Amino acid sequence: MAQISFSVNGKKQIVDTDPATPLLWILRDHLNLVGTKFGCGVASCGACTIHLDGKAMRACVLPLSAIADKEVTTIEGLSEDGSHPVQQAWVDVDVAQCGYCQAGQIMSATALLKQYPNPTDAQIERGMSGNICRCGTYLRIKEAIKRASENMK
Ligand code: FES
Ligand code: FES
Repeated sequence: MAQISFSVNGKKQIVDTDPATPLLWILRDHLNLVGTKFGCGVASCGACTIHLDGKAMRACVLPLSAIADKEVTTIEGLSEDGSHPVQQAWVDVDVAQCGYCQAGQIMSATALLKQYPNPTDAQIERGMSGNICRCGTYLRIKEAIKRASENMK
């Protein structure tokens, strides 16, 4: 057991647990931030994507020991009311089908747009390639990323 402090969506958190515990379980079971989803548990689907110090990471394989004193952002931290330009573009394009993968898709897209404010098709495909959608919403995701890019100018 170890005490680890970090911040989530701007709020300081201290947890006392096994430092090997994946961040995903802390978010969902301890902090009740259930927007971040469990898909595969082995960093292969992207459903659990969060930002760690602004970079997209998979929370299912991120041990608590790796996030000490760092800043975590989850889908709940993008905006309080869904008004972040990427979330808004998702609504405008009506991207979601079942919705299960979409929080992870939005977190990856937000990190991608930070790196490439005007992403090419190839940059979108490469940046989003680790996020799987069983419903096949990939074309709408690409359109929403382009729309968010326009709206963020
Ligand atoms: S649940 Fe983390 S990548 Fe699939
Ligand atoms: S919208 Fe259903 S898995 Fe992506």
